[in-house]
Amino acid sequence: MRLISLIFFVVLGYGEDSFITKEEYAKMLYHNPRGIGCHKCHGEYGQGEVLGRYKESNRTIIIKAPNITNLSFKKFYEALTNGKHRLMPHYFLTLQEIKTLYFYLKSSKHKSLKR
Ligand code: HEC
Repeated sequence: MRLISLIFFVVLGYGEDSFITKEEYAKMLYHNPRGIGCHKCHGEYGQGEVLGRYKESNRTIIIKAPNITNLSFKKFYEALTNGKHRLMPHYFLTLQEIKTLYFYLKSSKHKSLKR
């Protein structure tokens, strides 16, 4: 009997560890959305980042991933589902996942980083 309750507690304890908050889940998804992490191009908080530059007939062309912290949900959703982007990879996210990513970008307290 003692052994059984021990096992029970170990299992329960493990279960507790595996609970994560909505914030933690959202951050995780942003970094690992079944594909290359959003942060790699849009920056840690979605503030946008320069990906590269090159010269073309004496002009410097800057390639950047835009700031995605100020979009309406409609725009955000469309950008992730219409597949029309040129440089961004295509993702296969559920509506719930897109909502979670939007939540992450809106809730990150690092608003000072916004450009
Ligand atoms: C390889 C770099 C890269 C990755 C990774 C990436 N993006 Fe993008 N994203 C871009 C670029 C560049 C654009 C601008 C449109 C274009 O040229 O594709 C863009 C555009 C967008 C837009 C539209 C912005 C607007 O102003 O309309 C949204 C929303 C967006 N990305 C969200 C995400 C999310 C969420 C993820 C992760 C699931 C992600 N992106 C991953 C590079 C990236």
